[in-house]
Amino acid sequence: MTIGTQLLRRGVARGGSLALVFALCLGVTAPLLAATSQKAEARIDKRAFGKLQDGTAVDIYTLRNSRGLEVEITNYGGVVVSLRTPDRRGRMVDIVLGYDDLSGYEADTSYFGAVVGRYANRIAGASFKLNGVEYQLAKNNGPNHLHGGLRGFNKVVWQAREIPRKDAVALELTYLSKDTEEGYPGNLTVTVTYVLSNANELRIEYAATTDKETVVNLTHHSYFNLVGAGTGDVLSHQAKINADRFTPVDETLIPTGELKAVKGTPFDFSRATAIGSRINQPDEQLVLGKGYDHNFVLNKMAQELSLAASVYEPVSGRALEMWTTEPGMQLYTGNFLDNVRGKADKVYVRRGGFCLEAEHFPDSPNKPSFPSTVLKPGERYTQTTVYKFMVRGAKEKP
Ligand code: BGC
Repeated sequence: MTIGTQLLRRGVARGGSLALVFALCLGVTAPLLAATSQKAEARIDKRAFGKLQDGTAVDIYTLRNSRGLEVEITNYGGVVVSLRTPDRRGRMVDIVLGYDDLSGYEADTSYFGAVVGRYANRIAGASFKLNGVEYQLAKNNGPNHLHGGLRGFNKVVWQAREIPRKDAVALELTYLSKDTEEGYPGNLTVTVTYVLSNANELRIEYAATTDKETVVNLTHHSYFNLVGAGTGDVLSHQAKINADRFTPVDETLIPTGELKAVKGTPFDFSRATAIGSRINQPDEQLVLGKGYDHNFVLNKMAQELSLAASVYEPVSGRALEMWTTEPGMQLYTGNFLDNVRGKADKVYVRRGGFCLEAEHFPDSPNKPSFPSTVLKPGERYTQTTVYKFMVRGAKEKP
């Protein structure tokens, strides 16, 4: 459905302005629609999403901002189920990969749209030591631990409530991860707040506290396709990443510990470059990752909210920016997607989406030279990551 027909339907349904319907019939589109959508009311609607296999009821919340951007979020796994943004002609399309119903997310192995934790990304050998005690975690990725284990934060039900925010709508999700859950020490109270602003930003604010020393690394795992979910691969999307170095990996995708310069390698995205232009080069790291599946060391001051990456899709004109307080960003180009059947029966092909995962470096608990992911009682883990959506004209570059 185009934004025009959406507005028409809403206008008609609400007995709205005859002038608007008249203008649409006359083909007066973009400027009028833009002006009209400015006036939309920002709000959150809640409805039942379904029941999990164990009978637990799960909800889905629709967040709309004053400019018509729409995000659906479920309290199962904190998953962003859909995200509808305009292209340069104002056409709204869902740009994130996912499923139509809850059972899809229960069975999912791709982490579509989810909150990932307690430790996002990999921990080598599925174990780490804290204060001389060795903790064993699930080996759910070859010899390693991935994305929090067998039942990570993407597979649990979060408590949800709407919270007031200026010029935005916000949904706060809370989860208590109990001591020893998935092998991690400490009762960890986690809050993830999704804030959809009227400036077309989806801001994710994370906080966590513990009652025992532990490790924490949280991220968001949306797969974006700026043409629309299920429209093919993302190889012609142009990415720019603010990182002079990345963390090369071994054959099980664990960082070697080296911080390697991107200059002169296919990992140099200091200028906007098509994701696919070098992805199949016989570069050792690309071969190991089967494409990009690597953590970039962001150029920044610690804890500063700074621009990490921008991606632009020239045909639709859609662009997004990712800003974060985190030191690293995993670029994952959906190399393991294998014709996954998703929303509206669309098929997600290999490299049919890209993830920009703001996080600490993989395997930090076993790499003393990496920024620490240890959280102690009395401390507060925080992270802010912002995905900002925009359109660009045909001639502009990101
Ligand atoms: C990882 C990939 C993994 C994927 C799972 C990404 O964050 O880096 O290696 O296959 O998540 O969907």
